[in-house]
Amino acid sequence: MLTNVRRATAEFLSTVISSHFSLASLTTEALEAALEVPKKLEHGHLAFPVFPLAKELKKAPPLIAKELAEVVTKAEHPLSKEIASVLPAGGFLNVTFKDAYLQKILIDSVYAEPGKVGYSKKGEGKTVVIDYSSPNVAKPMHIGHLRATVIGQAIRNLAETQGYNVIGLNHLGDWGVQFGKLAWAYMNWGSEYDFKGKPFESLYALYVRFHDEAEKDKDLDAKGSAVFRQLEQGDAQVTKIWKEFVEISMKEYGRMWGLLDVSHDLVRGESFYNNRLKAVEKELEDKKLLVESEGAMVVPLGEDMPPCLIRKTDGASLYATRDLASAEYRHNELKADLNLYVVGVDQTLHFKQVFRVLELMGHVWAKDCHHIAFGMYRFKEGKMSTRRGRTVFLEDVIRQAIEMVDKLIEAKNPNLENRKLVAEQVGIGAILFNDLAVDRVRDVEFDWEKALNFEGDSGPYVQYMHVRCLSLIRKYGKPAPKSIAIELTSPEERELVRTLLNYQDVLAAAFTTFRPNIVAQYMLELCAAFSRFYNKHRILGEAEDVQTSRMALVEATRRVLEAGLRTLNIQAPEAM
Ligand code: ARG
Repeated sequence: MLTNVRRATAEFLSTVISSHFSLASLTTEALEAALEVPKKLEHGHLAFPVFPLAKELKKAPPLIAKELAEVVTKAEHPLSKEIASVLPAGGFLNVTFKDAYLQKILIDSVYAEPGKVGYSKKGEGKTVVIDYSSPNVAKPMHIGHLRATVIGQAIRNLAETQGYNVIGLNHLGDWGVQFGKLAWAYMNWGSEYDFKGKPFESLYALYVRFHDEAEKDKDLDAKGSAVFRQLEQGDAQVTKIWKEFVEISMKEYGRMWGLLDVSHDLVRGESFYNNRLKAVEKELEDKKLLVESEGAMVVPLGEDMPPCLIRKTDGASLYATRDLASAEYRHNELKADLNLYVVGVDQTLHFKQVFRVLELMGHVWAKDCHHIAFGMYRFKEGKMSTRRGRTVFLEDVIRQAIEMVDKLIEAKNPNLENRKLVAEQVGIGAILFNDLAVDRVRDVEFDWEKALNFEGDSGPYVQYMHVRCLSLIRKYGKPAPKSIAIELTSPEERELVRTLLNYQDVLAAAFTTFRPNIVAQYMLELCAAFSRFYNKHRILGEAEDVQTSRMALVEATRRVLEAGLRTLNIQAPEAM
């Protein structure tokens, strides 16, 4: 239900409750938070559970509900005239609004602020930092990075709908001993590769070759580590090579982000924290948290967790140390009220350790740091790793999806305008929706047929519903009506209105739980509700007032579909 209706209902009820019962404890805010949206329309549009009142008044909930229903029905309030019924049902008070009222506020709300359907102001004045995508230099993005990228971008979009100031951060993996190895490989074998023509492929080939050869030649790793030490000491030649690796890689990732329409506000690679690590170590030392263990420096974390490694025996810094510095940076300098890390479930222990260390350091804001974990991709052949040959590259999956959609268009609608663009929007939409529709902590089963099925629970299906609305509006031939002419009262119309009014709640719930799948599942429900309406009722060619009212509903649906797709970072094609 829309926030303003919720708010108005809570005010109304709290006025009635406080004048009827002598109670002080139930605030309008608490009441508003307690209002539920019943699963079925028979139970009204909003339900108020009277249990807390019953407890305080020491009366049975059904009795209170009955008494309250009577007084609310009789009460004089601006909202009274919009309410069709207030009925007791067990321990609940079910409020049903008049159709005309809901239809009016629905249409008003979708036109209120263009491009901001369903937005709220909950996060106003607060900053959320979201770390997503964050790939590792020199490694191609594989299908596993898809989740870190699209779940992250979707949560970013969701944060925007809640009114937060959002900072999207790329914690680029650009530091660590692997760059010493890579630089060694570059200095020794680089000339054998086409760095001018195919820079990124060459870089990755060097990476793979180094690891293959290191298995045979036991001295190679040590040589790589030595070069990394030079890099850590700021050696000019090695630094120059390293910078080139970063540049080549960022260009490649930029292409991928461009395809997916993903962007960051800030790049703060791991190397950014190099000159802050000493301070972190000193802070840990001052707070008596740092201990020596077999030559390395660690923070012990108690029985239930292995210690957090801060500095290696050879003095090299670590992933965790950089994350500690980064968390402080996000809090102190970026002023993050919420600090989110969209990273695979395989790094759960790492984040638990980092957050525990922050707690031990006395940072109360550690509780505002959240690891937004997600499961892995599973193809029929099993999991994949970057070093071995079985990797499924992200770009290949994207290209294949686009190609497959293009073939489908060729078969079904060969004269489609902008065919190339549509194939891209639908192909990428299919992959994104397939990913985002799954609860993020679960693994994603990748199945081409399911992802590209235009009739199933897929991205193309949702995009197709949007196109259907658009083509109705085109046939209508006039701008979509901005108001409803008569009350629409069929079950399908009521259900569609109710579903549309839930969109704002859906966004809020998806952000609070960091679960974009709530939006994706809602989109499927909305499509189903729209289909039932569309299949049952004639729209064009009906009496003028019926036609106008139904067209207003079509446009409202179209706007919510478009907004929902945008939140999931999926394009809404004009035709397909
Ligand atoms: N670069 C890492 C990887 O690809 C992810 C970084 C996540 N962010 C962080 N602050 N640790 O596995």
